[in-house]
Amino acid sequence: MAKHIPMVRTPAVAPLAPAGAWDCHCHILPDLDDGPRTMDEAVAMVRMAAESGTRTMIATPHHIVGLYPTRAAEVLERLGELNRRCTGEGIAMNLLAGQELALSPDIPARLASSELLSLGNAGRAVLIELPPLDPPPFWRHTFFELRVRGITPVIAHAERTALVSNAELAAEMAAAGATFQVNTPALSRAGGSRRVMDGWLRRGWVACLGSDAHDLRRRPPVLAVPAAQQAWLDISRAQPPFLHPGSTVSA
Ligand SMILES: [Fe+2]
Repeated sequence: MAKHIPMVRTPAVAPLAPAGAWDCHCHILPDLDDGPRTMDEAVAMVRMAAESGTRTMIATPHHIVGLYPTRAAEVLERLGELNRRCTGEGIAMNLLAGQELALSPDIPARLASSELLSLGNAGRAVLIELPPLDPPPFWRHTFFELRVRGITPVIAHAERTALVSNAELAAEMAAAGATFQVNTPALSRAGGSRRVMDGWLRRGWVACLGSDAHDLRRRPPVLAVPAAQQAWLDISRAQPPFLHPGSTVSA
């Protein structure tokens, strides 16, 4: 059988990710949200991530009612297809399923009915995107409903939310059982938000990192952690606490 040659060119030089890194937030499934448009582009993104050092990617397409009504079944199907393509092309990547869920009070019920996906499809955590401004008060009840089911709310790109400027809210969410996901491009920026993130890390509130990749160039799938930042390097290489030990299951 003729070897498939991807139509998408991978940029020649990619910044390096820590070897064995876990990318827990990325948009790599084609034609589901504002991530890659084609399967060829998706494969090229996974190849770029693998060559940069990432070993596991949790695909987290948006789920936003009325904008990206991505269903769990189509995420799993698209991920299975991507996994087969990557395996066929010799790309070593552990691909897991997930979703980036816009905060909504029906998340616990829709998870229970398998309409939505947890992180890694492991049933222990969900990636939740907060609205740009202060979250509506129902977040407390939603997080409580998740926690009583043993599910941890993980705040997507927490450094881009109201938590950065509202330490009281960040502490309240952490006390409510939430943990935070940080996008690695933010680690290369100096300033106040960087000090806030370091504080979250010291308190043990950061569960995982993500590239939040959407494409090959503008938001590439590379977990770029500055080499001198040992604590952040450590978390980039550690298996996230919400996955089962030794998790290597794809889709
Ligand atoms: Fe995202």
